[in-house]
Amino acid sequence: MLKNRSLIEPLDLSQDEMNDLFTMAEKIEAAPMEWHDRQRGKLLATLFFEPSTRTRLSFEAAMQRLGGSCLGFAESGSSSAVKGECLADTIRIVAGYADIIVMRNPKEGAALVASRYSEVPVINAGDGGHHHPTQTLTDLLTIKRLRGKIGDMTVGFCGDLRFGRTVHSLVEALARYSGIRMIFISPQELTVPDYLKSRISRDTENPGYIETDSLDKVLDQLDILYMTRVQKERFFNEEDYIRLKDSYILTPEKMKMAKNDMMILHPLPRVNEISLEVDSDPRAMYFKQARLGMFVRMALLSSILE
Ligand code: CP
Repeated sequence: MLKNRSLIEPLDLSQDEMNDLFTMAEKIEAAPMEWHDRQRGKLLATLFFEPSTRTRLSFEAAMQRLGGSCLGFAESGSSSAVKGECLADTIRIVAGYADIIVMRNPKEGAALVASRYSEVPVINAGDGGHHHPTQTLTDLLTIKRLRGKIGDMTVGFCGDLRFGRTVHSLVEALARYSGIRMIFISPQELTVPDYLKSRISRDTENPGYIETDSLDKVLDQLDILYMTRVQKERFFNEEDYIRLKDSYILTPEKMKMAKNDMMILHPLPRVNEISLEVDSDPRAMYFKQARLGMFVRMALLSSILE
């Protein structure tokens, strides 16, 4: 389906292609043993120049569950990048060893650059504060699985909407579906970038968006609350981070204001923005969401490598 294609931004995939991946992910989840040797002999390289738990390990689990193998590094300090090797050279070398590359890099646009130097497909596992398309696949699959469809709903994005790449990717993807109303909840310093807002407004089928700095004022309107942490690593100074980091904390008390079937999503890692007591609320779906990420990454790898 996606034979030999790179994935740099969520809109590199059409809606039909995403739907095919969701269908495949559900088949894999239902009968994983039927997929256990589909990628035997194939090699995945994971090049993580920034820390990761979920994305790297779920890709590695996905490849191994498909019968393939993995190589790579989990921090730039253990690669020759510390000796001054440029990204283009690293990619040219690794493309000679592996069949597909998954890369996370702190620089916006790094994955696109990598794809231009690579002879094998490159999957963007996060480029700075720009995009994280496989998190979007995870988020959309979770919404589809738990709500039955993607559309006709109010989605609240809360927290660091300026630097949060998972927010940027999901907003772009959701703007293509009909009946999506978005509410952006953030401090003034961390609002969604203007370029994204203009893309939502261009979609005439969509009810559009509103912005607020108050979670309390809009919580009762939401069908989905997408919480995010404040991205410490993107701040220029510690003082601003400390001032903004606890702008929103979701507690059981606050959850009393939410709809009974509102879904709480979070790309994770969580810091303080969702209190641990909320984890036992049946509306908390973030751990299920993280697990679904592995199945949709299995589907993505299968689709690109077959
Ligand atoms: N959601 C996500 O990207 O998590 P990691 O940073 O742990 O990969």
